[in-house]
Order: sequence, then C-alpha cells, then structure tokens
Amino acid sequence: MHFQWYPGHMTKAKRQMQEDIKLIDLIIELVDARIPLSSRNPDIDMLGKQKARLILMNKADLADPKKTELFGRYFKDKGYFTVNLDARSRAGMKAIQNTILEACKEKMERDRKRGIKNRPVRAMVVGIPNVGKSTFINTYAGKACTKTGNKPGVTKGKQWIRLNKNVELLDTPGILWPKFEDQTVGLHLALIGSIKDEILNTDGLAVELIRILLKEYPGSLAGRYGIEEAQDAAEVLSAVAKARNCIGKGGEPDDSKAASIVIDEFRSGKTGRFTIEAP
Ligand code: G4P
Repeated sequence: MHFQWYPGHMTKAKRQMQEDIKLIDLIIELVDARIPLSSRNPDIDMLGKQKARLILMNKADLADPKKTELFGRYFKDKGYFTVNLDARSRAGMKAIQNTILEACKEKMERDRKRGIKNRPVRAMVVGIPNVGKSTFINTYAGKACTKTGNKPGVTKGKQWIRLNKNVELLDTPGILWPKFEDQTVGLHLALIGSIKDEILNTDGLAVELIRILLKEYPGSLAGRYGIEEAQDAAEVLSAVAKARNCIGKGGEPDDSKAASIVIDEFRSGKTGRFTIEAP
C-alpha cells in the first residue's frame, strides 16, 4: 500500500507557528500514545529550540501501558517532560499543572532574579490533526478560565486562556503535519485513523494490522473473535469474516466487511490496548 500526503497549508501554518512560538515559554506537544513516533513531526524540535518542552502521551487509555511507560522514559532521556493522558478526563490535569511548573522552573527563577513578579508561564499546544488538541484545551481550561487578549500590550488577535495565576495558554493550537519519512509512518497513521478512510484500501490496511497484532500481541485477535490465529494474515481476516457472519452473496466470506470491523474495533480499543511502535 502506498500512502501520500498533500500538505496544502503546511508552509503557512509553519510560519504562523514560528511567530506564535516567539510569544511562549513552553511547548505542550500532544502525541498519540499508540504511535508516539509516527504521530510526531520532528520539525517542532527545530522550531522550539530554547523552549521548555512537555510531551503529553495522549489516548493513553487506548495504548499498551507498559510501552507507554517505556516511551515516557525514552522521551525523558531526550530532555522532554512527559505526562500520560486521556484528554477527555480531568484526572490528568493536576499532574500536567505540576509538570508545567517544573518544566518552567528555570524561567520563573530568572524572572524572580530580575524582579519580575507574577508573570505567568505562557504555553501553546501543538500536534498533528486528531491527536486530541481541542479536547485537551477544553478539558484543561474547563469553564473556570477567563479569556484575555485584544487589550493593550497583548498581541492583536491572540487569545490567551488564563488557566490560573501561573499559566496562560494560547487558545488556538498549532497544527503539525505528520512527517511521511517512510511508508511505515503512513501505515501507522492510517491505522489510528489519521488519514481519511475514503482514500485508503481498507482490506489491505486490515491485513497489515492483523500482521502487526499477530506478531506483537499474539492471542489478542483469537480472544476477540474466537478464531484460530493462522500464520497468514489474509486467512485470519477471512476467519473473522466467518466468525462475525460477514458473508457475501455467493456465500464466501466478505473480507471487506470484516476488515472494517477489525479496524474499527482496534481504533476504539475494543480489541485491547495496543502500542504498535517501540522506542
Ligand atoms: P484535534 O483537536 O487534535 O484535531 O483532536 P480532537 O480534540 O478533535 O480529538 C479527536 C478525537 O479524539 C475526538 O473524538 C476526541 O474525543 C478523541 N480523543 C481525544 N483525546 C482522547 C483520549 O485521550 N482518549 C480517547 N480515547 N479519545 C480521545 P471524536 O470527536 O469522537 O472524533 P472521532 O473519534 O469521531 O474522530
């Protein structure tokens, strides 16, 4: 299968982000915990040099907790602060708040030495489409926040969300484009639903997914569908079709229908919590 990406507004978005980054102290980058590598765009490291960095491993509720742990250590070793997250829940917000202060400790200390008091840390959220940026901003900001902006001294047009006395967040997230360095990245993005399904070959995608699950998480498909896990992924797909009564007009297994089921149930976490990349 071949994945392509047409980055229409990429240059413009990148320029905008360059401008926005000048205004902030901390970059809060969301990645998808099921594919922490493919859901990043390493360009942000260039754009965000000099800035404090926090990586939120979002959708951790769908990912393999052991691998999330490993990736957490991997990112920490590279100098990022990290928090695991389900952005739909407020449960992780306290940890994020504390980590933001920790990540910006040096900056706050510098301010204090210069006699600058009570200047909140300014942050912006970035990430590829569908990674959960809006969900995170809504959950984190909640109802209690007040919007500031369009007032003297504040960059025109920029809206800041005052989260508390210590932190302000730029209200529009920065969109990063995934980097299609190789086809594996494209495959992984397609599997989590980051590429429009209309342009994908669902049967082929399901076969690739089955291949990965057979190798990385043996037993998971057998457990979900009550089938034997054969060596051959296409055979497994047909077995799922039979198990789920996906039968074509001629009585043969309807693999396309089964493919949609396998992909949907993987994406929604029904088949299990999986991380399909390793640090
Ligand atoms: P974006 O701004 O980065 O583009 O992403 P957005 O917040 O719109 O989130 C995309 C989808 O991901 C939403 O589902 C949202 O509910 C879901 N989501 C965000 N964070 C998490 C998380 O931590 N765990 C889980 N399980 N889901 C999360 P949606 O509105 O239903 O869209 P879709 O799933 O129909 O595409």
